[in-house]
Amino acid sequence: MPSAARIMQRCDALARHSELAGGLTRVFLSREYRAATEEVLGWMREAGMQASLDAIGNVAGRYEGVRAGLPCLMLGSHLDTVRDAGRYDGMLGVITAIECVAALARQGKRLPFAIEVLGFGDEEGVRFGTSMLGSRAVSGTLDAATLDARDAAGVTISDALRGFGLDVSRIPRLARKKGEVLAYAELHIEQGPVLEAESLPVGVVSAINGFSRLRATLAGVAGHAGTVPMKLRRDALAAAAECVLAIERIARSDAELVGTVGRIEAKPGAINVIPGEVQFTIDFRAPRDALREQAVRAAIAAVEKTAAERRLECKVESIQELSVTACAPWLIEQFERAVAAEGVRVRRLPSGAGHDGQAMQAIADVAMLFVRCKDGVSHNPAESITEADAGAGARALLRFIERFEPRR
Ligand code: HGY
Ligand code: MN
Ligand code: MN
Repeated sequence: MPSAARIMQRCDALARHSELAGGLTRVFLSREYRAATEEVLGWMREAGMQASLDAIGNVAGRYEGVRAGLPCLMLGSHLDTVRDAGRYDGMLGVITAIECVAALARQGKRLPFAIEVLGFGDEEGVRFGTSMLGSRAVSGTLDAATLDARDAAGVTISDALRGFGLDVSRIPRLARKKGEVLAYAELHIEQGPVLEAESLPVGVVSAINGFSRLRATLAGVAGHAGTVPMKLRRDALAAAAECVLAIERIARSDAELVGTVGRIEAKPGAINVIPGEVQFTIDFRAPRDALREQAVRAAIAAVEKTAAERRLECKVESIQELSVTACAPWLIEQFERAVAAEGVRVRRLPSGAGHDGQAMQAIADVAMLFVRCKDGVSHNPAESITEADAGAGARALLRFIERFEPRR
């Protein structure tokens, strides 16, 4: 039986590896990330897995089946966090998967397939802007040019990987071939209010919403805050403020759409200087790709219109987008059987949040199991789950694993 207490303790243990005093921020290839990977490698080995860091910094563990070298059921989630994060987003899935393998190992149980557990190093994309680097490498969908992306200090992903002691030239070999991965399954907190509203500890994901991430740059003219008359200004931040509200109006135009400007930076950033340049991010999500793509077009048009009216230059670049990912019906059914066997009413629900499964679907069918989280809060230090729900999630995941029937 997996131990819910140990799962909770390990989420607390990983939360200590943070660059943020009194909170949790752990970005890809940081010192804190190194400490977290070392702890997870130890837990994987204790659970009877061969475990190592792969060439892109994922923590990869393998538990062989009845004989070595069999195709695997891949379980995973991510070990990086957003800024000032909760301690369950990502980590719960990795730790619970390890706990399930440990439960099998304790019984000396071997299955007709191997189990791989991946702790992906960069799902959130906080440090370099582009996300899911680890799962894209494993699914063979990581474009080499992506490794030229730079963080705020101008360090490229390639240089950060080398600095971490990794061999960038080995990344292409991480791509699993079709057939090597029988399915990808991820346990994750819901990050929404549905399970709590229906008093359910777990739910089965039907589909993962698509997302578009963009970066907008507005260029005006910096000037003296005290001397430039208002009618002569080309104020990049005032223009950006108009754009932010326009993006909010676009997102509010359809109940299934959400849009966010999560980060904005004004230069030169002094109290007495009219901002000459502003950069801000745009994030759209929707359960239908056409709806999201239409929102992106409308947002770009709104930015261009505002820039023209205010005599500014503008540029809107796409950082990344991933389509809606439908979870595979044959896997959903197996998760639903596992949940029902736990005596829990089966509930299917969509994921508004993005997940590594969207990258993994390039080489395998994917499925997700959600665990209830308090008030649906996530990407916030108030993110919390109960030990009882951690246990319900772990038992359902273990049942799914033990009874997993590869697709014929
Ligand atoms: O942005 C997301 O949906 C995920 O948390 N990376
Ligand atoms: Mn997240
Ligand atoms: Mn997550």
